[in-house]
Amino acid sequence: MSKRWFQGHQRDTWRRQARSKGYRARSAFKLKQIQEKFMLIREGDLILDVGCHPGGWTQVSVEETGPNGLVIGIDLLTSSPVEGAHFVTGDVSDESSHSLILELLQEGRTVDDNSLPELKEGETRLFNTIVSDISPKLTGQYDRDQAISLELAAMVFDFTLPLLAPGGSFVTKIFQGTGIEGVVNAAKQRFSRVQRFSPDASRNSSSEVYLVCKHKYPKPKKGSRGTTVAQELDRHLESEGIIQLNDSEPETDVKSGFRRVSKKE
Ligand SMILES: C[S@@+](CC[C@H](N)C(=O)[O-])C[C@H]1O[C@@H](n2cnc3c(N)ncnc32)[C@H](O)[C@@H]1O
Repeated sequence: MSKRWFQGHQRDTWRRQARSKGYRARSAFKLKQIQEKFMLIREGDLILDVGCHPGGWTQVSVEETGPNGLVIGIDLLTSSPVEGAHFVTGDVSDESSHSLILELLQEGRTVDDNSLPELKEGETRLFNTIVSDISPKLTGQYDRDQAISLELAAMVFDFTLPLLAPGGSFVTKIFQGTGIEGVVNAAKQRFSRVQRFSPDASRNSSSEVYLVCKHKYPKPKKGSRGTTVAQELDRHLESEGIIQLNDSEPETDVKSGFRRVSKKE
């Protein structure tokens, strides 16, 4: 039995199960398995689902938070409606997407379309849980796809963490490989518990792994105040000799998937 055949068979099994249970994507089982192990989502939570299309994780989020919670999904692609959830179509790093997410969050319509308790003057509502299954459009070149996945994960941290309440939970997909420690270390500056997890539904089928972060600190640890996860990732890559951050001198490209892959002559 070839490895490729086995992987294809596994994927088909999850796909069939998803269809029989009314989920839009087999990836729904990945979030279910993350939830079983880590209990990220509690009843009544306000949840942001990043990279939500076609909506499998959104369906699971709605089930887990229940009628009094709130679920907002964002993706570059438009998803057909999921009862009880709100969708924003756009890039998670765009200002306009941010405004739309904030608007929906402050409006506070729950899954069963009631209003969340009114906010006091000057108060801002924040999410309890952010789940991100964001993935680049795969090129098939592993180095490149893996590098872009790390950059995407760093971007999701930087753009969405200000919307996550202290004590809140966060999960994001990353592809295993070079530089992953840079993102893991940056996460550890911001959350008290950070673990990598491979759900059965993705095991054997790819090199993706989920970074599960619990208990967001009110502020990042000292060394990370005033820096972004993307900057910390770049610094890590530089310390590993994978990129050079000083771009002022003439450069020649060296082989790697990373965006700023350059070497001084
Ligand atoms: C693996 S799919 C998500 C599947 C989804 N979790 C589900 O269960 O149905 C990854 C998604 O990330 C989205 N994505 C990639 N870059 C994005 C960005 N910058 N902003 C928003 N979504 C993005 C893609 O459009 C794609 O739909």
